[in-house]
Amino acid sequence: MSFYIAGTGSALPEKVVTNDDLAKFLDTSDEWIYTRTGIKSRHVLTTERLDDLAIQSAKKALEDAGVEGKDVDLIVCATMRGDTYTPSLACIVGEAIGCNAPAFDLNAACVGVLYCMEVADAFIASGKAKTVLIVSAEAMSKLVDWTDRSTCVLFGDGTGAMVVKAGRGRLAGELSSDPDSHVIRMPNFEGLNSPYNRNEQEKLAIYMDGGEVYKFAVNAMGRNIEEVCRRANLTPADIDWYLPHQANVRIIDASLKKFKIDKSKVLLNIAGCGNMSATSIMVLLDEFAKKGTFRKGDKLLFVAFGGGLTSGAAIVEWNKD
Ligand code: UT7
Repeated sequence: MSFYIAGTGSALPEKVVTNDDLAKFLDTSDEWIYTRTGIKSRHVLTTERLDDLAIQSAKKALEDAGVEGKDVDLIVCATMRGDTYTPSLACIVGEAIGCNAPAFDLNAACVGVLYCMEVADAFIASGKAKTVLIVSAEAMSKLVDWTDRSTCVLFGDGTGAMVVKAGRGRLAGELSSDPDSHVIRMPNFEGLNSPYNRNEQEKLAIYMDGGEVYKFAVNAMGRNIEEVCRRANLTPADIDWYLPHQANVRIIDASLKKFKIDKSKVLLNIAGCGNMSATSIMVLLDEFAKKGTFRKGDKLLFVAFGGGLTSGAAIVEWNKD
């Protein structure tokens, strides 16, 4: 027994920052950002709290699924950093929706939601849960160095959620990690300052070797698609919809090229959202689910890569009631 997606939700900060807005304080341009990434604008937190937006996403997903908070058996939240280290974002969401089930956060960078799906699958397969709430929430604007044009222009903030229930839906999942931790790196904000260990402080912002990430991403996405299709006994041509991590349109195109997939099957929202780390595929899913894009029985392939370096893919049949 695995799970199907019973409901989705998302909530983004109100403020939209365009590439032209960034060019007012950075040596960059709309032309450079758009042609290299496909990004035009992103949502950025101002006065909102990330946990409030995550709660909104969770409530929308529960309503969409027709599930009450008290009936959720597990909450797992993909995030690199919530508003507080403790309570976890998952616990904050649990309190807001009236749920006393186990709740914890999980950090697998941009691949977080795919790791959450594996956790949900394992809880459901073992009989420990029938209904799981997966939440994703990323405040990338608080993690980047806003003077570093090579990283800050790429990211956006956002939250999403899905309710999954025991039943036919998820056909296969695939996760992996590559030991290349220097390629994307973000030091912890505290912990480097003990009086017993006064090492030189690393800069407290995301560092990234863009070119190396690019190469890793194209390779890993292709490899994960092949592997997850093999596990589901399908070919890439059997997939109805591709939901790739929204980091860069060129990465998406390059990693899918060899499969000769009809481009209309590849869903994108990067132009208006940028890279929202773990939240990207959740917001993408919710957007296209609400548009009525998916038909019962459609096969959705999620694929992502991120810091760690982590990567993964999952195929889920759309069997929402
Ligand atoms: O979720 C994982 C997150 N990370 C990623 O997905 C990043 C993956 N990598 C990429 O998306 C691409 O490597 C980038 C978009 C980061 C860069 O694209 P690129 O085609 O590799 O850029 P490039 O090598 O053609 O250009 C780099 C040049 C450098 O200038 P020089 O040294 O060639 O003179 C940079 O200083 O572009 C310069 N540059 C910029 N110029 C204007 C870097 N950032 C900017 C900027 N505006 N924002």
